[in-house]
Amino acid sequence: MHAKLICLIGDPVEHSISPIIHNEVFRALNLNYVYLAFRVLPEDLMDAVRGLRALGVVGFNVTIPHKVSVMKYLDELSPDAEVVGSVNTVVNMGGRLVGYNTDYLGVVNTFKNLGIKLEGTSATVLGAGGASRAVIYALILGGVERVFIVNRTLEKAVSLAGEFSIKFPNTSLIPMSLTQENLREAIQKSHIVINTTSVGMYPRTEESLVPPDLLRSDLVVMDVVYNPLETKLLRDAKAVGAKVIDGVNMLVYQAVASFKLWTGIDPPVDMMFRTAYSVLRQLR
Ligand SMILES: NC(=O)c1ccc[n+]([C@@H]2O[C@H](COP(=O)([O-])OP(=O)(O)OC[C@H]3O[C@@H](n4cnc5c(N)ncnc54)[C@H](OP(=O)(O)O)[C@@H]3O)[C@@H](O)[C@H]2O)c1
Repeated sequence: MHAKLICLIGDPVEHSISPIIHNEVFRALNLNYVYLAFRVLPEDLMDAVRGLRALGVVGFNVTIPHKVSVMKYLDELSPDAEVVGSVNTVVNMGGRLVGYNTDYLGVVNTFKNLGIKLEGTSATVLGAGGASRAVIYALILGGVERVFIVNRTLEKAVSLAGEFSIKFPNTSLIPMSLTQENLREAIQKSHIVINTTSVGMYPRTEESLVPPDLLRSDLVVMDVVYNPLETKLLRDAKAVGAKVIDGVNMLVYQAVASFKLWTGIDPPVDMMFRTAYSVLRQLR
């Protein structure tokens, strides 16, 4: 019997560990699926989506830089994907391509499974791109009262805060430019700090947007970067006794949600974590 195909499209995709995570579970559960990654350039995105539809794939993941641009080639969007404004998972429903966002679910389930209370708290979110949108949506769903959106390009933070404020008037969203004074003020007033920028990612592993002296032991500090597993931000946070959450959590829980959408099966979460940590530890 032919294996059912699930793909990843993006650029770059060579370093993605999603194929390893999903294929490991397919093998372990004896499921006849295969997950393959394809590098797709922006000018080829429309053709790639048409090709995937023509091939009758079960579905696909979408990564940088296509998470927003892919939306116009799909037949339908889930309400959550509409709100977040990006798609990282597509399901082929009998020829209709339906776009979902499971990145935000990755964050929701990270906090849920670690037992971290969001209700009534304040958070500082560094960045205002795609990952930031998913993180902020998850924080809002969890009942966070106030989010400081600190971004290098202030206009992007302003526009994101404005858009989400209309949709979620009960959450206070405060855009800020990335200055030391703003960071100090935001983090002082926060219980949670989340880096959603690529700062700290390999090979620039000695970079962090947060000066160590702004970190406290009562903070929860999360990084969406997962290569390295322990970013400079998380290292600094750990050194002052803060609770730290690495980027593998969001990565694995989004994979769990995507897997369920494609196959209807709840995958073994522990196995996905084991695979992800083992691959990332071997990288360097
Ligand atoms: N763990 C996971 O499951 C997961 C899921 C999704 C994404 N990610 C990771 O999240 C990161 C961001 O992805 P994205 O999709 O949000 O990208 P994006 O949409 O391109 O946004 C990038 C954000 O990072 C900021 N930024 C980039 N370089 C910076 C620098 N040198 N100094 C200050 N700010 C900087 C940008 O600020 P400007 O607006 O000023 O340009 C922007 O806010 C990537 O590393 C990605 O791998 C992880």
